Amino acid sequence: MSETFNIGLGNHDEQNLRKKADSDFVSFWDDQAKNLSWFSPWTSALDWKPPFAKWFIGGTINASFNALDVHQDSKADKPAIIWEGENGESRTVTYSDMFVKVQKFANVLKSLGVQKGDRVTIYLPMVPELPISMLACARIGAVHTVIFSGFSAASIRDRVNDSKSKIIITADGGYRRGKIVNLKETVDDAIAGIDSVEHVVVLERAKNKIHMSDKDKLWDELMSSASVLCDAEKLDSSHPLFILYTSGTTGKPKGVLHGTGGYLTHLHSTFKWAFDIQDSDVFFCTADIGWVTGHSYVVYAPLLHGATQVMYEGAPDFPDESRMWDILQKNKVTIFYTTPTALRMFMKFGDDIPNSFDLSSLRLLGSVGEPINPEVWKWYFMTIGKERCPIIDTWWQTETGGMLISPLPGLETIPLKPGSGTRPIPGVSLDVVDENGDTVPSDIKGYLVVNNPWPGMLLTLWGENEKYQKVYWSKYENRYYSGDYARRDDDGYIWLLGRADDVLKVAGHRIGTAELESCIVSHDNVAESAVCGIPDDVKGEVIIAFVVLRNGLKFDSDVLQKEITGKIRSDIGSIATPKQIYFVPRLPKTRSGKIMRRILKTIGTGDVIGDTSTLEDGAAVTDVKKVFDETQKSIRKKSA
Ligand code: PRX
Repeated sequence: MSETFNIGLGNHDEQNLRKKADSDFVSFWDDQAKNLSWFSPWTSALDWKPPFAKWFIGGTINASFNALDVHQDSKADKPAIIWEGENGESRTVTYSDMFVKVQKFANVLKSLGVQKGDRVTIYLPMVPELPISMLACARIGAVHTVIFSGFSAASIRDRVNDSKSKIIITADGGYRRGKIVNLKETVDDAIAGIDSVEHVVVLERAKNKIHMSDKDKLWDELMSSASVLCDAEKLDSSHPLFILYTSGTTGKPKGVLHGTGGYLTHLHSTFKWAFDIQDSDVFFCTADIGWVTGHSYVVYAPLLHGATQVMYEGAPDFPDESRMWDILQKNKVTIFYTTPTALRMFMKFGDDIPNSFDLSSLRLLGSVGEPINPEVWKWYFMTIGKERCPIIDTWWQTETGGMLISPLPGLETIPLKPGSGTRPIPGVSLDVVDENGDTVPSDIKGYLVVNNPWPGMLLTLWGENEKYQKVYWSKYENRYYSGDYARRDDDGYIWLLGRADDVLKVAGHRIGTAELESCIVSHDNVAESAVCGIPDDVKGEVIIAFVVLRNGLKFDSDVLQKEITGKIRSDIGSIATPKQIYFVPRLPKTRSGKIMRRILKTIGTGDVIGDTSTLEDGAAVTDVKKVFDETQKSIRKKSA
């Protein structure tokens, strides 16, 4: 029996939304869509030709209009974004400021030749100009593709080549732990030799020295001459809003493509239900906009609701370990949404730090991105929320667009169980199934699937309809395969049990094993490689890599480890750096030649190695184990 926490959770489902949703999910979402402002109504709520779903057919809408124009009468002077710079600066951007800036920047984009449907790459730090750029794209029907500012030049190049972006928006530099990261230089490296990029717009954030070429234009100069009015384009409900690249099981990141009307409907409803958002709230989500949480619950959902939010530029522990609580206290944050990795780090810093701040403004606490361990859940509940604030553990994915599983204090009261996201949201039907697609009995591990289309779901993978079908819709007929393991308990609560595929989650970020392995193998001295994730106290999971070198090579493992790590940093980004690389003579494989990552993981965690009967060569395990033990011994010696 798991522990439950019953606390008063605000409103109740007076409108019986769950009942309505259960009886007809399409007409339920039809009603929800009416919460947005449409230019013209839809004729039918759903066109479902598996695996492609179109929501609100015939309706026309604009995301930027719903985020800004609709608030100009009642909330023009309300802060939309209270921005906290890492270096202590702060800025307040009201709804009317946003409205003016977005229209001006939309005119800038037009003047640079951007048209409806064109892709625009955005590589900016966490500054208000990032949401402003996104909304300006949305205003004219351009498709934004934001790249997390920690990604490398090679990653930008691949994404720009794939999306064929004409324009890149970047900054001279961004602050990270007091240092300036030269983003413009990274973009220069990325686009050297790419003809499709016509212009680079450069925001001067850090005032560091940069090289400007003919293609480059300064943000401020463009804005100073831009006209103020730009009407929002009336776009088809399924018009693409953005591409967001994410790691999957293949060597190449997938371009997850999201639409407009369905996506916004999903965000509007879930933000209200999960966070019970009120006009007086101050919302703070710590996610970087470079990831989906930032797209959905920093940019679109809060702005759709005319909410005030805090946006923070830098590292959560800079200049010291109290930074987050200082921001919360200063801005009287009422709803805080963060990750288990951040929470584990805060917990390690000790209770004295948050206890020395006044956090009494808080009323709801959210978690996203990875399973939250029950101990961390309880710490969050007791130490941060002082047993007053429900923990909103939200499960979702880049592909789902918005939350699919979450407690919903804005809708209903439900006892909370530390570590479970409770139940699916109304209008979404989930199941936990076995290999054949049959529901598994309660408390048995299975695959999490979604039974019906939902409004926030991806339209497809950019330029890869077949891959879209294969990755998500081929394992089970007409049901979405999430790639996650889960179990359902006797009360119908869902417990997420981690990825079932070759995707790692390091500090909540998705990293594809195939992508990382192909990067390692592209090093001249490497013949083969296998990576896996092992549990970590703070990051949830860290990467270890096993590498087989080309025949007869003499090497210095420290030098080679540095070289391979450097390659990973420059090809992918530092988030994919393995904690340790083990140079092994061979890898354990099945008779059909498949690398047994399960065994490597077992070696990495120090667990008992089980059945090796399917292996082609059992001695490979002994060899790997020997290298692993020796490497660990020498690490211990060095650190002693
Ligand atoms: O494994 C699940 C985990 O994160 C994956 C999705 O990653 P991404 O597309 O980067 O989106 C993260 C932010 C929504 C899922 O397949 N995950 C996400 N939220 C949770 C979670 N695992 C457990 N509990 C969660 N609340």
